[in-house]
Amino acid sequence: MQTANTLDMLRTLTATLRKDGSTLGLVPTMGALHKGHLTLIKAARDACDHVVASIFVNPTQFGPNEDLDAYPRQLEEDSAMLEAEGCSLLWAPTVEAMYPQGFASSIAVSGVSANFCGASRPGHFDGVATVVCKLFNQVQPDMAFFGEKDFQQLAVIRTMARDLDLTAPRVEAIIGVPTVRESDGLAMSSRNRYLSSEDRAAAATLPAAMREAIARIADGTEVRQTLRGLEDALLGAGFSQVDYAQLADATSLEPLEVLGSKDARLLVAAKIGGTRLIDNMAVNPA
Ligand code: PAF
Repeated sequence: MQTANTLDMLRTLTATLRKDGSTLGLVPTMGALHKGHLTLIKAARDACDHVVASIFVNPTQFGPNEDLDAYPRQLEEDSAMLEAEGCSLLWAPTVEAMYPQGFASSIAVSGVSANFCGASRPGHFDGVATVVCKLFNQVQPDMAFFGEKDFQQLAVIRTMARDLDLTAPRVEAIIGVPTVRESDGLAMSSRNRYLSSEDRAAAATLPAAMREAIARIADGTEVRQTLRGLEDALLGAGFSQVDYAQLADATSLEPLEVLGSKDARLLVAAKIGGTRLIDNMAVNPA
């Protein structure tokens, strides 16, 4: 696996990989890799000739009260994991390479960014959209792979790609890869490492209560009442705060009061022991 730290180097190396008509799959990450990321690499490897992974802790998607400096950085370990997984190229730019002196542009994707994590993290999705747009332009992949774990992020990126014509032939497809879960159902996340053993055990209530709520909605129980029950179950299990527990249209992320004939998603964010966990699950149309 080769590593590029400058845009010139990246362009030379991607041109070489593409030379014989080979396809490139991009997996954007912020590092601190876990099994969930490796599933994205595997999906990219299965679909494309070469995998390009990026590791960049993107400062523009952190709010003033979010600790950018505390975000785990382990480039050597991550690099070894990517190489073992068959990645061809690692794009690991510096902050100066990504945002040179005088950088003044930003992409805002309205609507789909507004609710859920967008409401509690103002500017977060502008930072995500801007850096992902840059990554698409820098790498020019045939396909790009993102975890469904960050479902709102995936919806924002798909909307941006559609609106700004970043889709085919520039990026042939944006692939959402299903969430990888621990044996007790907890979605894998770099944040799980911050949980105490007691909170880690209680955190498994999140996916269990979500599955229960989905079964109730499918049985016809009122959505609002079901979501209140879900919140109560989390608070009863030791979560200190539920930021949102909401049924939404799977594409526009418009909140739904009833399950209609379109694909829906149950999205939850809740805090336990100071760690904010997010999860989402598909809810089949009625
Ligand atoms: O999901 C992430 O790790 C980041 O938000 C992304 C997509 C790499 C953009 O910085």
